[in-house]
Amino acid sequence: MRKLKDVIAEKPWVAYALFFATVVVVFLAGLFGASIVERRSETVQRFNLVKEIPGYEPRNEIWGESFPRQYESYLSTSDTNFVSKYGGSKMRDMLASDPKLVVLWAGYAFSRDYNQGRGHYYAIKDIRNTLRTAVPQPATCWTCKSTDVPRLMQKMGVANYYKSHWDELGSEVVNAIGCQDCHDPKTMNLRITRPALAEAFQRQGKDIRNATHQEMRSLVCAQCHVEYYFKGKTEKYLTFPWDKGLDVSRMEEYYDEVDHVDFVHTISKTPILKAQHPDWELAQAGIHAQRGVSCADCHMPYKSEGGVKFTDHHVKSPLSNIAGSCQVCHRESEATLTANVNERQDKVKELLEASEEAIVKAHIEAKAAWDSKATEEQMKPILKMIRHAQWRWDFIAASHGGSFHAPLESARILATSIQRAEEARKELAVLITKLGGKYPVQFPDISTKEKAQSFIKLDMQRLNAEKAAWLSKVPAEWDKQAAERQSKMNK
Ligand code: HEC
Ligand code: HEC
Ligand code: HEC
Ligand code: HEC
Repeated sequence: MRKLKDVIAEKPWVAYALFFATVVVVFLAGLFGASIVERRSETVQRFNLVKEIPGYEPRNEIWGESFPRQYESYLSTSDTNFVSKYGGSKMRDMLASDPKLVVLWAGYAFSRDYNQGRGHYYAIKDIRNTLRTAVPQPATCWTCKSTDVPRLMQKMGVANYYKSHWDELGSEVVNAIGCQDCHDPKTMNLRITRPALAEAFQRQGKDIRNATHQEMRSLVCAQCHVEYYFKGKTEKYLTFPWDKGLDVSRMEEYYDEVDHVDFVHTISKTPILKAQHPDWELAQAGIHAQRGVSCADCHMPYKSEGGVKFTDHHVKSPLSNIAGSCQVCHRESEATLTANVNERQDKVKELLEASEEAIVKAHIEAKAAWDSKATEEQMKPILKMIRHAQWRWDFIAASHGGSFHAPLESARILATSIQRAEEARKELAVLITKLGGKYPVQFPDISTKEKAQSFIKLDMQRLNAEKAAWLSKVPAEWDKQAAERQSKMNK
């Protein structure tokens, strides 16, 4: 065998090849080492409990002692500065920007007051402030607002908790959505704390405990960002209508079968279904969910600080952090990605407006038919069409981000909404004419929130004054009682 020395003398490039090969090996070994260190520091980050966190600890600041980075980024959900074309964290008066909503919800508290959602930090404050809680509400309403809820369910029993009144629990529910809602304090693993989600899975023959880690990164959100209703006149048992499937028409069938009505429309007398916010369900029909991208991938991307990689708990519109969320997977520029989002939103919005226009007219024409002495029997099939049209419209209107999460499905649902509303209007035209009523029907001026509210006969001055009086005394009292109770909890 020839010696290496001789080979090198003959072919000097071999020396260079050996040299570079060594450089590459050393470099890779370094990377490997660094990645181990990084992983270890992530692990340390995960389990470095300053002190043990009790099972139902609702105070985020106590968890924050052990996990300051996650806690501080969570606190940033109080930031209301970011505004995008349709979303963002600033409060938007949705009734002022679209007064047709007032008429669509005539007979329901949403017609008084409806703002676009903002950060998790504000969940308690905003539910106290809204005029919607001036009407008696069940305690069930607290379920997606506060991390005191799992504690109360444990203490009172789930069914008893739902059965209580909203204001009875005011001094118990004071900590906004937080760590305990999504994490097990012993392992920090993601967990489901809201029984309604686990129960809905169970009724579909699935066990949520078998969900994969990646699925859990969306399912923690599905505890709240979903369609639901309060089952039972007095039980008010929080239930997800998923037994027949997640599609809008399967839920519609479910609600028709159990004969659920959220409110009777004061103008048309339609038994209306109010969609809540089927964000998770609708997202399943979109390409990102179908490719296994989770809610957390876009809304809670990783962040680095001082060499530590952690999950950004500032849950918000990803358009405020395209580099951190979208560009992990897409190489297009921020401008292109924002334009992609806005384009889908614009198109869905156009259909949404067409749908609202048709349904508002259908409600008013239905009133004209009643005024012309239409019978229950004549009206029943027509009102059912209006019910379905409005349910399908609201499914998209209430689904935050749906026009980006699942644009094609959103458009399809709105198309079926418009089709049902126009079908109802056609039948109404025939009926009104047959009864000798005046057709076409005159539509009122509802170009502003105030005009629309006065059209549906809401006394906003009185409602606002009553709410202001309540706000000036009750919440402060609740907070005082809560502070006393919490000071007795182990520190
Ligand atoms: C315990 C219930 C609950 C859970 C769990 C939850 N949310 Fe929310 N979320 C809410 C509520 C309530 C609001 C509206 C708060 C307000 O406007 O006061 C909200 C608001 C938001 C907003 C709007 C924020 C803004 O700045 O406009 C986004 C985005 C959001 N949630 C995404 C998520 C994601 C993603 C998850 C899962 C990682 C999640 N949420 C888990 C209840 C929840
Ligand atoms: C809406 C659900 C939700 C809430 C509320 C929440 N987290 Fe998380 N948290 C997550 C998700 C999702 C991850 C990513 C987990 C994964 O992929 O393993 C995570 C990860 C973590 C981790 C693991 C390390 C990391 O950064 O990835 C820690 C520690 C943590 N969260 C602490 C907290 C603390 C402290 C709070 C309260 C201030 C909190 N979380 C509130 C959903 C939540
Ligand atoms: C974890 C990876 C991942 C992240 C994060 C992600 N995407 Fe995607 N995106 C995908 C995949 C996968 C597809 C499907 C494309 C395919 O399979 O060829 C997709 C498809 C798309 C499409 C085309 C969908 C359509 O309607 O036809 C757009 C637009 C898009 N992404 C924009 C975004 C934006 C904007 C963000 C940030 C808010 C984002 N993506 C975040 C992985 C991701
Ligand atoms: C591929 C990235 C991506 C995924 C995955 C994703 N979202 Fe979104 N989400 C967005 C974008 C982009 C918007 C539009 C934000 C805007 O208009 O400012 C949005 C909007 C929202 C909003 C309204 C926020 C606002 O500022 O008004 C909520 C709530 C929301 N998403 C929840 C979820 C939930 C729950 C999931 C999981 C089922 C999810 N998102 C999955 C990208 C994503």
